[in-house]
Amino acid sequence: MTTRVRGGRYIVRGEAVIGGSIRVSGAKNHALAAMCAALLTDEDVILENVPFITDVDSLADLLRSLGARVERLADGALRLNASGVTTCEAPTELISENRASFQVMGPLLGRHGFAASAPPGGDVIGQRPIDVHLSGFEAMGAVVTREGERFVARAPAGLTGTRVFMDYPSVSGTQNVMMAAVLARGHTTIVNAATEPEVQELCHMLNAMGARISGIGSQMLEIDGIERLRGTRARIMPDRIEAGTWAIAAVITGGELFLEDAPWDVMDALLHKLRATGATITTGPRGMHVRGSQPIRAVSFQALPYPGLATDLHAPFGALLTQANGVSIIHERVFDNRMLYVSELRKMGAEIVSTGSSAIVSGPTPLHGTRVRALDVRAGAAVLLAAMAAQGTTVIDDIYHLDRGYEHLDDKLRTMGVEVERA
Ligand code: EPU
Repeated sequence: MTTRVRGGRYIVRGEAVIGGSIRVSGAKNHALAAMCAALLTDEDVILENVPFITDVDSLADLLRSLGARVERLADGALRLNASGVTTCEAPTELISENRASFQVMGPLLGRHGFAASAPPGGDVIGQRPIDVHLSGFEAMGAVVTREGERFVARAPAGLTGTRVFMDYPSVSGTQNVMMAAVLARGHTTIVNAATEPEVQELCHMLNAMGARISGIGSQMLEIDGIERLRGTRARIMPDRIEAGTWAIAAVITGGELFLEDAPWDVMDALLHKLRATGATITTGPRGMHVRGSQPIRAVSFQALPYPGLATDLHAPFGALLTQANGVSIIHERVFDNRMLYVSELRKMGAEIVSTGSSAIVSGPTPLHGTRVRALDVRAGAAVLLAAMAAQGTTVIDDIYHLDRGYEHLDDKLRTMGVEVERA
């Protein structure tokens, strides 16, 4: 596992000429949920294609602190075994490192009848409540209390399946409640479930472990509880957000990239919008090819739950629109504080104004290198993309945020033709 160090800095030479082929890594958000699912069984869970990113490291540390074994095998796969779980109380300092960590609650509660955790950490991209998670646990019979900074969920006699309405189709909320429900007595219906591809993949993995989940991919999940789950071997899907980030890199620089393994069949919204900017995209069994063209046309978009344009691609797409010809309007419909990247892009010369959850971008404006910060993982991707297109050299501080979500970043950037130095 790599060491997690805050800070770090990139020095990026602008006007990059992007080309070549990049393999898309395993999806962060699928990997993190799948790691939590390993808590549901005594048997080995082996996950292939888990990215080497610090969010995986911090969740692995959290699982170990609960008594689970987590190790990288020689072939790179991650083996998890939760037969030795000794505590269902997540240490606060580890929970606060990433948002996904709260997803240990559902599996622990479902299997052991008890779970305790502080609210999760993660990016500062808005209020990130967990009411949907907690009310799902309560609907299944758990008693949830707030003890100091921790939420404690108790169901000593086990959970009982029921009808759970999600007040918002929360991704991790759906996953958390679903992981609790697979071991509940009886039948659970989750209404207004998230349909993100990572949620669907988690459903398939749980079914491979013996769970009975149907309605996968719909907003209504039906779950028949069973007594125990077995181990499994699963492959983490390629990361649609990483693929989207590199697709935008090709377009913003007027270059081209082949993105091996890009999961284009779950990226319709992005491909639709990129084509509207004038990009040429071809898809095939091995991945997708993206070619940018000049001028880039302005397009407006809304960031939405799946299958809408992913909120995690909002900031990267916002960076692209600074180079588009005309006025683009952006509406963020998922998080209430996704606009952190705007101030950083403005330092580079972008004309963007944001108000509330909307932004207006006027382009094209020449971007120039300066000193900016990666304020969260995707805001960091936005300044990185802008730096590739800018004139001169950009210094990006706090790139530890990028390391949370982008595997082998330095190597990949150099392979695609970006001159970058890590300091
Ligand atoms: N929400 C509620 N109540 C809840 C939970 C969420 O109102 O109990 C609201 C939030 O306030 C927010 C919206 O629901 O406005 C979406 O939040 P959601 O719970 O769906 O997001 P998440 O599960 O915390 C995951 C990803 C995010 C991604 C979102 C949306 C993981 C670990 N994280 O977060 O990924 O942006 O879904 O797709 O799966 C990233 O990778 O950079 C990242 C932030």
